[in-house]
Amino acid sequence: MPQVVLITGASRGLGLALALRFLSRGDRVFGISRSKRHWAEALKKTQNSSRFSLAALDIQSEAAVKKYIQNLKRKAGRIDILINNAGYGGTLSRVENLPLREFERHLRANLLGTFLFCKHTLPIFRRQKGGLLLNIASMAAKRAVPRLAAYSAAKFGVLALGQAIAKENLDIFFKCITVCPGGMNTQMRSSLFGEEDARRQQSPDFVADIILQIVEDKIKLETGSDITIRHSKVTDIHVPPAN
Ligand SMILES: NC(=O)c1ccc[n+]([C@@H]2O[C@H](COP(=O)([O-])OP(=O)(O)OC[C@H]3O[C@@H](n4cnc5c(N)ncnc54)[C@H](OP(=O)(O)O)[C@@H]3O)[C@@H](O)[C@H]2O)c1
Repeated sequence: MPQVVLITGASRGLGLALALRFLSRGDRVFGISRSKRHWAEALKKTQNSSRFSLAALDIQSEAAVKKYIQNLKRKAGRIDILINNAGYGGTLSRVENLPLREFERHLRANLLGTFLFCKHTLPIFRRQKGGLLLNIASMAAKRAVPRLAAYSAAKFGVLALGQAIAKENLDIFFKCITVCPGGMNTQMRSSLFGEEDARRQQSPDFVADIILQIVEDKIKLETGSDITIRHSKVTDIHVPPAN
């Protein structure tokens, strides 16, 4: 049966690569981005599919997130899969030079936005007695990166959030998995480290293919697990202890 898939950050990069895969399975994909800047290209790549729609909202606004999810539930009837993918890379900076505002921006864009989508979708999953939640963290959630302290701290937080959510929802048919990609050839990577470096990174298409295998249970993961995908390989799968 076609599924209802909600993906944040679906206008480009990994989010768009994921949207394309779900569309090719016949699913309905609801994508979020902050701006409409990349919509024309995204709609072209998805061949203006009637099963794909994009909405512009800031994942950091609880009022906007709540309203969007309520409207989506009304329109689509259910939400089967939530992928918290939108993220913010910022710029490279040592901690002593990092402005407070920039540290806060990382926490809001990378952690709080994910929390808000989880908070307002989990009641729907509980009513349905099921759902799949995939939070896109980073290698930086497993091993902090110098000059990316705020990003790393926020992504460690995403990992912790996912583990707690998994343990809170053991009584329903629900899975929460944290995906930790290494560098990918996307705009985020090129604005941080330059285009030449970005071209040397794994393709977001490869990471999206692995994520689809998780969704389809071809890679079997226990709820609360995290999976690291680096240099176009699955390099680690970690199952947190029960207590
Ligand atoms: N690229 C890497 O090397 C890498 C490595 C490990 C993990 N990751 C993680 O993978 C995920 C996808 O990264 P990517 O490289 O594909 O990123 P990207 O190319 O920069 O795309 C980011 C997407 O998120 C949206 N977005 C950003 N902030 C938002 C906000 N506040 N509200 C709503 N939408 C927002 C953007 O929309 P707009 O275009 O409108 O801003 C865009 O659609 C992120 O969580 C990232 O941290 C990336």
